[in-house]
Amino acid sequence: MTVDGEPEIDPRAFRNVLGQFTTGITVITTFTTEHTPIGFACQSFAALSLDPPLVLFCPTKQSRSWAAIEESGRFCVHVLAEEQRELCARFGSREPDKFADAAWHTSDLDLPVLDGALATIECLVDRVVDGGDHYIAIGRVQTLAESPTADRPLLFYRGQYTAIEPAKTTPAPWRADLDHFLTTTTLDTWL
Ligand SMILES: Cc1cc2nc3c(=O)[nH]c(=O)nc-3n(C[C@H](O)[C@H](O)[C@H](O)COP(=O)(O)O)c2cc1C
Repeated sequence: MTVDGEPEIDPRAFRNVLGQFTTGITVITTFTTEHTPIGFACQSFAALSLDPPLVLFCPTKQSRSWAAIEESGRFCVHVLAEEQRELCARFGSREPDKFADAAWHTSDLDLPVLDGALATIECLVDRVVDGGDHYIAIGRVQTLAESPTADRPLLFYRGQYTAIEPAKTTPAPWRADLDHFLTTTTLDTWL
């Protein structure tokens, strides 16, 4: 126990245990005030609300990308595809120009959009909540797009990149039902 009576949580145990929770990975981008594209790899992304449409992510308070997002008030979330490991590693580093070898364009909402993601979600910053050494940033969804070609996500599990093995996904006969469940919204459906 610490002096204030809180249990002492070992940081390594925290990482190991929380690392059992598998997530997809996103890259979140914006423009700086000089209109330079900037962004970072972000695992802590989630859908928050359907009505109104809100998403959230948790940037570390040290992130330069977050400082730029706060300043611009807008961001683009890219849900990474399996073949975007290298891009992810670059955006997860502190390299000065992460966009150097990347293919990207500027959207109508004036955001840098990287090619090849499974999905892109453009948002305006709605609210920022304190979360210890991170913030919880809530975004109001403005645009949604899905890639017509890329079909498998890049995953993060136990501190390493991984991917879905095609043979172990839901067998074909179940897909129609599953699709119905995932796309039909009733009062008791989550999202
Ligand atoms: C797979 C992966 C997931 C990450 N998830 C997060 C995250 O959820 N929040 C965060 O602040 N940083 C996360 N990072 C770390 C940032 O991408 C990294 O700190 C980045 O260098 C910040 O750079 P910046 O200062 O240029 O914004 C992640 C990195 C990787 C590789």
